[in-house]
Amino acid sequence: MIFGVDYYPEHWDSSEWAAQEKLMRKGNFNAVRIAEFSWKKLEPEENTFDFSWLDKIIDVLAAEGIGVILGTPTAAPPKWLADKYDVYMRDKYGRPRGFGSRRECCSNNPYYTERSEIIVEKLAERYGKNPNIIAWQIDNEFGCHSSTRCYCDHCKKKFANWLRDKYGNIDKLNSLYGTVFWSQQYDSFDDVILPAYTSCEADYGDRRAHNPSLEMDFYRFSSDSWIEYEQLQADIIRRYSDKPITHNFMGHFSDIDYYKLAAPLDVVAWDNYVDNQWNNPAYENTSMAHELMRGAKHKNFWVMEEQAGPCGWDMFGGTPRPGQLRLWTYQAIAHGCDGMVYFRFRSAPFGMEQYWLGLVDHDGVPRRRFFEVQKTGAEIKKLSDMFVGAESPTDVLIVKSYEAVWSHKIKRHMSSFDYRELLYRYYKANNDLGTNPDCGSVNMIDKKYKVVYMPAYIIVTDEEKAILEEYVNGGGTLVLTHLSGIKDENNNIVTETLPGKLRGLTGITVEEFDSSPVDTQLSDGFGKACGWRDIIKTDGDVKVRYTSEYYSGSPAVTVNKFGEGSVWYVACELSDAALFKLVKMISDEAGAEYIPHPEGTEIIKRRSCDGREYYMLMNFTAEQKNMDMTGTSLINGSMFDGKIEPYGVEIINRKEQ
Ligand code: GAL
Repeated sequence: MIFGVDYYPEHWDSSEWAAQEKLMRKGNFNAVRIAEFSWKKLEPEENTFDFSWLDKIIDVLAAEGIGVILGTPTAAPPKWLADKYDVYMRDKYGRPRGFGSRRECCSNNPYYTERSEIIVEKLAERYGKNPNIIAWQIDNEFGCHSSTRCYCDHCKKKFANWLRDKYGNIDKLNSLYGTVFWSQQYDSFDDVILPAYTSCEADYGDRRAHNPSLEMDFYRFSSDSWIEYEQLQADIIRRYSDKPITHNFMGHFSDIDYYKLAAPLDVVAWDNYVDNQWNNPAYENTSMAHELMRGAKHKNFWVMEEQAGPCGWDMFGGTPRPGQLRLWTYQAIAHGCDGMVYFRFRSAPFGMEQYWLGLVDHDGVPRRRFFEVQKTGAEIKKLSDMFVGAESPTDVLIVKSYEAVWSHKIKRHMSSFDYRELLYRYYKANNDLGTNPDCGSVNMIDKKYKVVYMPAYIIVTDEEKAILEEYVNGGGTLVLTHLSGIKDENNNIVTETLPGKLRGLTGITVEEFDSSPVDTQLSDGFGKACGWRDIIKTDGDVKVRYTSEYYSGSPAVTVNKFGEGSVWYVACELSDAALFKLVKMISDEAGAEYIPHPEGTEIIKRRSCDGREYYMLMNFTAEQKNMDMTGTSLINGSMFDGKIEPYGVEIINRKEQ
């Protein structure tokens, strides 16, 4: 298993390299990722290249038995390039996202793509057959610092072509967009604007004031642009190397369609910062992100940057407690991580990230965090064949759609609605119950899942409808909710009775809805509905009813038999307690397996490549927990009695009780 660190040799005097790499060896690391921000050192002036330092460092690392994941440096162009060619993205006010940080270049700028192709080709030519290169990372975190959408002239031209390819003639676009509204008909594709700043936004901050179809296409186009840029680099590297190609994704980030971004890659990697100055440090949030990353390619993934210390940009997040770095490592593995790389090896005293601590402090002295990871590395080495390529079998899938993210973002329905949060709440309820769901796209739906959740799946295509019908016909249990099927592919409200294409499956009609900010009580002590409530009619079974408001007595949760299977319709957003009850009820009725476990813990069942079954038990709290499970520890061979220390981990062959 890859066990490595992110390393910036260019930040240190070369006289320090040998000692740092010896320390890496001592830390049990077998890989480093390097060079992803070193363009200026590699090409100090246009067409003048210097690879001598990179040659040297790769050799020094090889001498220590450490392989290299080589990053292409295109996320941070040198100033000569950015200035000479004006490659800066433009924000929605037309202002350049200027030099001084990174990720400022537009992927549709022809000069930037040309210079990117040249530097990537130089690297691939030189290192493509180097035996010490074990993998390639393309660029770094596409879209980070909210840099997916650009409003420059190159984007405008390219967007016009993208629309021309999609719609063929402008009348079709006008008709599908409904530009007749507010007299916005376009005369040609070149006439179509980018949804930048406009009069309606003046006083409303983030409010989007554009035609919702235009907004939607601009999201799609912007996402496609980065995927095309990634493909450009992947094609070049593949001409010279047969080593795996990856890119570091960002977990829950959703401005790029990660299913499509994963396609040109051999493996998905992602950057996991559990507790920095911005994140939601709930462990379920991290587990879900791991699952989403596994779902991106429906395949195990790598973590390319794992938090190694307290971190933040201008303020620190929490300091990892003793045990937490080890725990986070096993949490990643339990959810499908096949390669673990920590960010970063030694903390940088300078630059924007002087507060983003690595495994080793600024003074280069290894302390608690380093020793904890060193020990973890030794454990993992022994168990590597149990981990790499292992599966975590589950009966449950939660579907995420990037189209849904964008559509719900463009028009939020009500201030408290948040699609990402809704998915997370369904994930958390399942995690609490212990179904340990997979997360992925609608294309992952398969009869091996007993239950498939698709909360607020707002746009349903005919192909997707066919997938759902086949799944339910074959005996599956599908769970749909409010705000599903209400829009078409142009992001317009469907004119069929709601829930549009999902009427047949759900057996309901939406008669009215209520988004007023009141909580509504539910029958049988189920709890309450909060947020959006559909007021529906059904001929199917009613599981839960509203018991307050003018729609008291009408259905809140229904089940419709369809073929061999059933479709649940959850007409409202539920409180946490109600949602947990619902998920348990659905799992019980569908026969989905769940593993009971104390609050603040996870138990993940796994199956190694060669079919050996084992359980990973993790305690995310600061107290000892008693797990209702015993067996032989794979970590140290002793008998596990069910007690797990604060932030502790056990991996066991289970003893049936
Ligand atoms: C990641 C990025 C790294 C580093 C780290 C800490 O998003 O890929 O280069 O910046 O965050 O901020």
